[in-house]
Amino acid sequence: MSKGIHVKKPLDSLLAEAEDSEKGLKRTLTANSLIALGIGAIIGAGLFVRTAAAAANNAGPAVTIAFVIAGLGCAFAGLCYAEFASMIPIAGSAYTYSYTTMGEFIAWIIGWDLVLEYALGAATVSIAWSEYLNKLLNYLGMHIPYEWSHSPFEHSLDGVYGIMNVPALLILVLLSLLLIRGTQESAFVNNVIVITKVAIVVLFIVFGWQFINPANHTPYIPAASTFTDHMGVPHHYGGILGILGAAGVVFFAFIGFDAVSTAAQEAKNPGRDMPKGILGSLIICTILYILFAHVLTGVASVDDFRTQGREASVTYAIQTYMHGYDWLAKLVTVAILAGFSSVILVMLLGQSRVFYSMSRDGLLPKVFSELHPVYRTPYKSNLILFVFVGLFAAFVPGDIVGDMTSIGTLFAFMLVAAGVIIMRKTNPDAKRTFRTPLVPLVPILGIIVCGAMIFGLGWPNWSRLLMWLALGFVIYFGYSAKHSKLRNPK
Ligand code: ALA
Repeated sequence: MSKGIHVKKPLDSLLAEAEDSEKGLKRTLTANSLIALGIGAIIGAGLFVRTAAAAANNAGPAVTIAFVIAGLGCAFAGLCYAEFASMIPIAGSAYTYSYTTMGEFIAWIIGWDLVLEYALGAATVSIAWSEYLNKLLNYLGMHIPYEWSHSPFEHSLDGVYGIMNVPALLILVLLSLLLIRGTQESAFVNNVIVITKVAIVVLFIVFGWQFINPANHTPYIPAASTFTDHMGVPHHYGGILGILGAAGVVFFAFIGFDAVSTAAQEAKNPGRDMPKGILGSLIICTILYILFAHVLTGVASVDDFRTQGREASVTYAIQTYMHGYDWLAKLVTVAILAGFSSVILVMLLGQSRVFYSMSRDGLLPKVFSELHPVYRTPYKSNLILFVFVGLFAAFVPGDIVGDMTSIGTLFAFMLVAAGVIIMRKTNPDAKRTFRTPLVPLVPILGIIVCGAMIFGLGWPNWSRLLMWLALGFVIYFGYSAKHSKLRNPK
């Protein structure tokens, strides 16, 4: 008789699987490459695109406060992730952790939910990539027509509708091929990009500071009201609700530090290096984000971000207000394009690794864990994911996939935080090279702060999350429960 849906994967068998790395993925990553991997995943469209959207639609200059809230939620969740990552050094991230703590069904929910984080996250950033590519082409006297660089559900300020986002598809294809070639090589490319990306953030903060116009920062926290964007979608603007909504939006900018944990199976010394990788990248990014958002909303106004500066906002702000810094605008545009590529790469990597684990457990078809004979990468999975992510990138607006990414990730974070509390009770003696401080306080605070951001994202996003989860239930009961290796031992 098969076991029930709450069957838990024993910790020992998980660890044995990790030891069995001859058969699995290669172990090549050190602490520094993990921090680089983290920053590579972290700084991206959240900062260079979603910040302006959150200022325009939700919080005005107080988007900096939103960054503080989002950073806090991530710190709490990050401390929980770090305990798990040091304890269960296996590919699969939150999915794997929850399989041992909360059982198969919850693990499925999380794994399914992580698709929102990684796959839709990659789609969001590729859409943002397309915006900045157009800026770069402008410098070269070229231009991709609006129709071919936007989704059919979007229109320009003068009423032109999109058809399909071709550049977004293009970058996805290139990076999927790079991933198939192998993680080690991809990590090298990533390191170069990370340095460039941090450099332009710092340059923008330093040079932009003198162009802050105090009028743009007054009032710093706008009074509560409602703002309807150019697509007719209403948002809470200003006040506490506006700031919470903005926190949910810019939370996107932090997504990725947990992607480090998905690479645990490829870390040389996971016990020591995973916590360093996760928390190190998180701290560096939070400080940079707050300063960056302060400068960006000081240089250009909320009205700019609602109209001409809505797309590729950073290049727009420099070009329009920072006279004499055209070189910076060009540099930023090129660096952002490279930077976004590294984010997409880590997201696609994370997604294929989560599916790798789910497929090895029998919850997804085998095709997701078949490794390439030479490169040892799950190449078939990479190709299937390209099609899936590509559909979203080509046909859905960035605002929608961006917020779906945020809400999916926030939900996974809450479950991981709960998992730490449960694991302390069910496996009190398991070896933990890193322990989350002040349990249960820190996990509970994580749940509260992430829950508040979910609240801030509003009902359209809640309903999208529920629909996604409902689809997941259908697949679980239709396929996964019947094929689960744990529930149906041979
Ligand atoms: N944090 C990543 C970004 O902002 C996902 O692009």
